[in-house]
Amino acid sequence: MRAPSSLQKRLGVGLTLGITLLWLGATVGAWLAVRHELNEAFDNALQETAQRILPLAVLEISNREAPDKAQQVAPLKMHKQYLMYLVRDAAGEILMQSHDANPKVFRKHPTEGFTTTRKYRLYGTSALRETVFIEIAEPLEHRREAAREALFALLLPLLALIPISLLGTWLFVRMSLASVVAYRRAVEARGVGDLSPIKVSRLPAEINPLAEAVNHLLERLRKALESERSFTANSAHELRTPLAATLAQVQRLRHEAPEGSLRLRAAKIENALRELARLSEKLMQLAKAEGGGLLSEAPEDLIPLLAHVVDEWRQGSTRQVELLLPAQASVYSTIDPDAFAILLRNLIENALKYGAPDQPIEVSLTGQALLRVINGGPAVPEPVLQHLTERFVRGQSDVGGAGLGLAIVKTIVQGVGGRIMLTSPATGRQDGFEVRVWLPLAAAD
Ligand SMILES: Nc1ncnc2c1ncn2[C@@H]1O[C@H](COP(=O)(O)OP(=O)(O)O)[C@@H](O)[C@H]1O
Ligand SMILES: [Mg+2]
Repeated sequence: MRAPSSLQKRLGVGLTLGITLLWLGATVGAWLAVRHELNEAFDNALQETAQRILPLAVLEISNREAPDKAQQVAPLKMHKQYLMYLVRDAAGEILMQSHDANPKVFRKHPTEGFTTTRKYRLYGTSALRETVFIEIAEPLEHRREAAREALFALLLPLLALIPISLLGTWLFVRMSLASVVAYRRAVEARGVGDLSPIKVSRLPAEINPLAEAVNHLLERLRKALESERSFTANSAHELRTPLAATLAQVQRLRHEAPEGSLRLRAAKIENALRELARLSEKLMQLAKAEGGGLLSEAPEDLIPLLAHVVDEWRQGSTRQVELLLPAQASVYSTIDPDAFAILLRNLIENALKYGAPDQPIEVSLTGQALLRVINGGPAVPEPVLQHLTERFVRGQSDVGGAGLGLAIVKTIVQGVGGRIMLTSPATGRQDGFEVRVWLPLAAAD
């Protein structure tokens, strides 16, 4: 898959390239027009100069004693002269010339009007019925330099324009996309199980339909999940009463049946019914765990809850359950007390069920709301361990069960934004099984 390209980069480069090309086009157009106007102005000046000098030259020549002797006009001041001129008669004989005039630049015979040679622009005009001619030459380099300077002046702003356009587009796109980034953050910040619509204000019109579509999808997903959950919870709930009634009947049947195969069969049915009741109880717990509402409004102290649940088990079982509490008096967490009790019951139930009967069960809580349940018994291999938290997955065991206990625990932990880790053998031991659960710690209010 190709990496997605950045809109910012594409717009920045595209717009800058477009502006540069347009500017270059405009520059060429402007430059052509400027060059044309410059040429016209230079030609005008040339023509004007010739027409000013000519009458003076004619006057000077006609006043001379030896009229045929060519005369060089001494310059008034030494300066870099752009223009040079020749005054000739019709035969091409030079009558007068500017001090640096080079006759090679001019044609052999005088011509009237404008002509262009390789290096010069020439203008010629005559007086006294075409007997005296004046021609002026101006180096073309002079005009070219002016045109070059005009071109530079037009191109110079491009140097500033390119970085300004790149930076400007980048900043502008970044500002325009700020709400999209906020939307992405809102989506990312969603915890597991939060399928409520995502609200973000002022999204660009192009993105808004996308956000609405996502919200519709979330809504449909939420409804589908909700109906699945409520179906599970309702069925489990509806099964409770008939199951309890049937169980009572079967118990009576077992008591009343004579010793022998009938009583044995009644006992088997009774066990199967108990198993069924446990399964329906676990399904209800799972549906509750998946249904959200696992966080309580106000933080609760975990220590009394923990002590209460452990006491329950101590009374119901002859096995030893050790409880290790932190030095501090209370550990507050945002987990819902009912959810915490379900989680803890499932972990202790497992430890009693699968732990070595001769070793005590260790339940501990740290000040950082880290809950640990440790039991003895043979170590569980790593590949098996990884899948134990999945639904309906069980390890190798003779004891019955549905494979839902650890799935319920994991769902609750994820729902409150905590973390769970299974370790076997237990830390610092050769054997045993350890479950660590990091619960969300809250400040006491
Ligand atoms: N404390 C424990 N010690 C050893 N094995 C355990 C422990 N807890 C869970 N297991 C293993 O993980 C499996 C899945 O547990 P669970 O999800 O509670 O389902 P169930 O208890 O119904 O089998 C169990 O079948 C067992 O093999
Ligand atoms: Mg279990």
